[in-house]
Amino acid sequence: MKITLSVIKADIGSIGGHIKPSEALLEEVERPIKTALRNGKIIDYRITYTGDDIALLMTHTKGEVSEVIHQLAWNTFIRGTKVAKQQGLYGAGQDLLKDSFSGNIRGLGPAIAEMEFMERENEPFMVFAADKTSPGAYNLPMYLAFCDPMNTPGLLLSTKMGKGYKFTILDVSETGHDRIVELNSPEDIYELAALLRDNDKFCIEAVHSRVSGDVAMVQSTTRLRNIAGKYVGKDDPVAICRVQKDFPATGEFLAPYAIGHYVAGGMRGSHVCPLMPVKQNTGVSYFDGPPVVSCAAYSVHGGKLTEAADVFDQPFWDEIRSQVSRKAVEIRRQGFSDPAMLPYDELEYGGIKEVIEKIDKKFKKRK
Ligand code: 13P
Ligand code: 13P
Ligand code: MG
Ligand code: MG
Repeated sequence: MKITLSVIKADIGSIGGHIKPSEALLEEVERPIKTALRNGKIIDYRITYTGDDIALLMTHTKGEVSEVIHQLAWNTFIRGTKVAKQQGLYGAGQDLLKDSFSGNIRGLGPAIAEMEFMERENEPFMVFAADKTSPGAYNLPMYLAFCDPMNTPGLLLSTKMGKGYKFTILDVSETGHDRIVELNSPEDIYELAALLRDNDKFCIEAVHSRVSGDVAMVQSTTRLRNIAGKYVGKDDPVAICRVQKDFPATGEFLAPYAIGHYVAGGMRGSHVCPLMPVKQNTGVSYFDGPPVVSCAAYSVHGGKLTEAADVFDQPFWDEIRSQVSRKAVEIRRQGFSDPAMLPYDELEYGGIKEVIEKIDKKFKKRK
């Protein structure tokens, strides 16, 4: 059976700052989704949060960019925002950047990752959700999972995986229209690395198996700053990965998160901090962070989902979380000094630009 997985995520308000959504908000968000299930609009759903972002995972047969599904998500977030306002939650409606819906949620603020495919006999997949960071946070882990046999032995052990993958890379600094390039592993991996090293400019939009043409991975590429024209919050990306068989194994996708690599987005969207793999429904704390990523693994059949396997809720990751905490404290010791704070062009807050412009006028040329 051909099904679509839609993950649509937004920050529509949070308790006590940018920490986590309230119980009342989560309950309100579930109501219209439950009704859609009853009415047969969707086959199944799961609602989770990561930091202050609520992610809706929905299965259906309406294909990608379905107006019905996008409208459902938009109405759900609008409805949730009302409760967020009633409760005085911080940043109520933060990611809803436009006033009205016109057929497609893309470009309105929420992050979206969707894939349509013929279900395999066994169909395992995973949903990643990250908070206090941007889409480029997945560049390194996805590169390692799909391209590096040191991380992914499947590239050596499976002749199908050894045929490599097709990457669609988006230039997220471009506004107005999509600027994309397609590159193939293994022959283009140096070019791929040359792009993916730049997390603020280039992001992976999708990866396809070269042996079957099947979609392996998709992720959201929303940059809120490009939509709003100013800082309104972090982009906080979601990704869907199909696992096993022609695709990397679950554990091959997860292994790179043991690095706790440094990403952009901590505190006011303006700092570099290590990415911490956390359990589902975990808030943030230290320095409005550190940036966090959760991952739920599911199996799906006929569009019906199993319960989630919460893959970072396992003793191995406790040690990694301790290491990431140490890395976070270490980089915070140098405060605003490069590279702990983002470079001028990437700084999300307008304030510092005004300060620099003001001082700029005081500069004199020495004879
Ligand atoms: P399969 O069950 O797909 O063969 O995977 C086995 C495995 O070793 C995964 O790491
Ligand atoms: P969110 O984008 O997750 O709301 O975080 C805003 C922020 O920068 C908090 O420091
Ligand atoms: Mg927020
Ligand atoms: Mg957030």
